[in-house]
Amino acid sequence: MRPIRLAAAAATAWAAAWAGASTSGPVQPAFYKDVLPIFQENCQECHRTGEIAPFPLTTYSSSRPWAKAIKAAVLAHKMPPWFADPHYGSFSNDRSLSKEQIATLVAWVDAGAPAGDEKDAPAPRRFTEGWNIARPDAVIAMTQPFRVPATGEVDYQYIVLPTGFTGDKWVQAAEMRPSARGVVHHIVVFVRPPESTWLRGEAQPGVPYVPPRKNPDGSLRSDINGNNLANEMLTIYTPGMVPDIWPAGVAKKIPAGSDLVFQIHYTTNGKAVGDQGKIGLVFAKEPPARRALTLPAANLGFRIPPGEANYRVDAKMMFPNGAEVLSFFPHMHLRGRAFQYVAVYPDGHSETLLKVDPYDFHWQLSYKERHPVELPPGTRFECTAWFDNSVNNPNNPDPAAEVRWGEQTREEMMVGFFDVEIPADMTVRGFFTRPKKAAE
Ligand code: HEC
Repeated sequence: MRPIRLAAAAATAWAAAWAGASTSGPVQPAFYKDVLPIFQENCQECHRTGEIAPFPLTTYSSSRPWAKAIKAAVLAHKMPPWFADPHYGSFSNDRSLSKEQIATLVAWVDAGAPAGDEKDAPAPRRFTEGWNIARPDAVIAMTQPFRVPATGEVDYQYIVLPTGFTGDKWVQAAEMRPSARGVVHHIVVFVRPPESTWLRGEAQPGVPYVPPRKNPDGSLRSDINGNNLANEMLTIYTPGMVPDIWPAGVAKKIPAGSDLVFQIHYTTNGKAVGDQGKIGLVFAKEPPARRALTLPAANLGFRIPPGEANYRVDAKMMFPNGAEVLSFFPHMHLRGRAFQYVAVYPDGHSETLLKVDPYDFHWQLSYKERHPVELPPGTRFECTAWFDNSVNNPNNPDPAAEVRWGEQTREEMMVGFFDVEIPADMTVRGFFTRPKKAAE
C-alpha cells in the first residue's frame, strides 16, 4: 500500500501520460468505456438516487456537470471518503481509488469529459431498490415519525420495538435506514432479550423515550451500552457507513421474544422535519457455527484541557478467550483527530490493526477486515484517540472549554467499537470469563 501523497503525485504523472497519448493518437478516456466502471465500483453506493450523496453518478448527463468538481475531489482524496492509513491492515470495504483510477478520471476531465460510445458501457450495477443489503426477510420500523425541531439540542431518543420473533433468529445482514438522514447523527440498534430489564416498564413500545440522567441512588445513569451485557448491539448507523453483512457462517443472534431498541441522536439543521427510520434484516439460511459480537473499548474519564492540540486518551480491553476481529468503528466527536487499534499479543509483540488519520467527524466509517484477524487468548486491545481542542481545528465548537465525556457533539466521546466472531454457543459473559485451567 502507498502513502497517500505519493499516490497523488503518481496520478498526475499518469494523467500526463494519458494526455501525451491523446496528442499522438485517439487514446483518451471516455465516459462509457473508462469512467462509468469506476463510478459503479467506487461511487454509486452513495451517488445514486435515494442514497446520501447529493447527485447521481449513474448516467452521462447526471455526471457531466460535475466533471471539474470530480477532478478536484479525487485529487484531494476528498472522494471517495476513506480514512484508513494505508500502512496498516487491509479492508474489504476500502473504496479508495488506485492511482490509475485517479489518473483516468483526471485525464477524462482534462479531455473535456467526452461521452464516447454508449455501446462500451458496462452493464448497470444492480442494487436492491431502497437497500444496500439483499432484500430483507424482516423490516422493523418506527411506528410514528419523531418530530425533530428546527434548532437546539435534542436528547438521545430510545425507541423500543418488539420483534414478535417466536424463535431465535440469526441475522446475516442488517441495514438501518433513517427517513430524514440530514438530521440523524447516529443510531445504535440494540437487541433487548426477554430477561433484560433495561427500560422495561419505563419506555412504552414505539414511543420515543428519554431516560432520566440519574439513577434513584443519585449516581449518573448511562444507557450508552444498554447498561449491561445482556443487551447486545445489533448494528450502528452513521452517514456514509456500509451496512453490516457478516461473513458466511457468522451471524448476529436475536433471541426469541427480543425487542429492538433504537438509540437515536438527532442533530437539528435549521428545518423542522419528521424522521421515521426502519431496519432491514436478512436471516442466515442455517444456524451459524460462529456468532458476531459488537464490543466497545471506551474511556469515560478523560478531561481534554482547553486549547490542547493533540490530547491523547487510551482505552484497553483484555480477551481471556480467543476471538477473530471482523471490523472496527472508531467514534469521537468534533475534536476527534486520529484513532488507532493495536493488538498486544500474549507473546508481547504488538500489531497496529487500524489507524484512522485524519479522523473526520462527518464521516463516521466502519472498516471491515479483508481477512478476520485472529486474537489468541490473552490478547489485549489498546485503543488510542487523539483530540484537537485548539483554535486551529475548524470544527471545534469551543477551544476555551475543558471537554469531558458527553452525549452531545460539543462534548466528546472515546469509543473503539469493533466486531469479533466467537463460537455461536458462547455468551458475552463467557467470552470475558477466564477459562479454568484443565489441571484445576
Ligand atoms: C460513502 C458515500 C460516498 C461515496 C462512496 C462517494 N461519495 Fe461523493 N459525496 C458523498 C456525499 C455525502 C457528498 C456531499 C457532501 C460532501 O461533499 O462531503 C459527496 C460529494 C461529492 C462531490 C462534490 C464535492 C464538492 O466539493 O462539492 C463530488 C465531486 C463527489 N462527491 C464525487 C465522488 C466520486 C467521483 C466518487 C467515487 C470515486 C464519490 N464521490 C464517492 C458521498 C459519497
